[in-house]
Amino acid sequence: MNIEILPTAQAARNYDFQGKTAVVIDVFRATSVITTALNAGASAVIPVATVDEAFSRADSLGRSEVLLCGERNADPIPGFDMGNSPQLYLPERVARKTIILTTTNGTLAIDAARSADKVLVASMLNYRHVAALLVTDAVADVVIVCSGTDGVPALEDSLCAAMLCATLQRVSSPNIVSDYATSVSLLAQLDGFPYRLFPLSRHYQTLVDKGYKDDVLFCANPDADFNLVPHLSPDGRLRP
Ligand code: MLT
Repeated sequence: MNIEILPTAQAARNYDFQGKTAVVIDVFRATSVITTALNAGASAVIPVATVDEAFSRADSLGRSEVLLCGERNADPIPGFDMGNSPQLYLPERVARKTIILTTTNGTLAIDAARSADKVLVASMLNYRHVAALLVTDAVADVVIVCSGTDGVPALEDSLCAAMLCATLQRVSSPNIVSDYATSVSLLAQLDGFPYRLFPLSRHYQTLVDKGYKDDVLFCANPDADFNLVPHLSPDGRLRP
């Protein structure tokens, strides 16, 4: 298995995904929300890049048929049903619902990876199951897309990518194909990896400062183990 790691959604925009499996990570908080919503029984999550696109998809599917969800600058979007706090995506709120999700970086990264043979979604909540699926399916070329924040690499995404690499290295002998991917995977050798390192992330601090501390604790929860792997279907919907 070859493993490449990309630092941002913007880097993914210029990458040739043909013949590859993309694994998109946005720990704080988009891919944690997607994993949590599907784990809570949402029928699908439709990731879209812009707020306008979200409203127009909601109009075409029927506004009462969907939940409009996401954030801009970490806060809920006016006129939307829910923000981007994963622990609010409870079964009583989202079961059997179609969620239209737009976020600042995570849904852009998913969009940028659309040309991959398969697009999977990973977070700290489900990375073990993503690793197991990649091994079971004997995937030859994996590209881990870290979403980053506003075009800059984000520590929390690198930590999750390193967890995924470390898990794959325990059960197979992957070939890490670039110096950037090697440097991310080496994070796994640091003292306190990974949980003591999350608070060093800039977006962690931004979310804490904005009153979303419960969210970062939820997204970096060492005991979480959601047994599902969201994947992007040809119809543009993420399903378990
Ligand atoms: C993003 O896509 O940038 C994030 O999910 C931002 C956030 O929710 O804080």
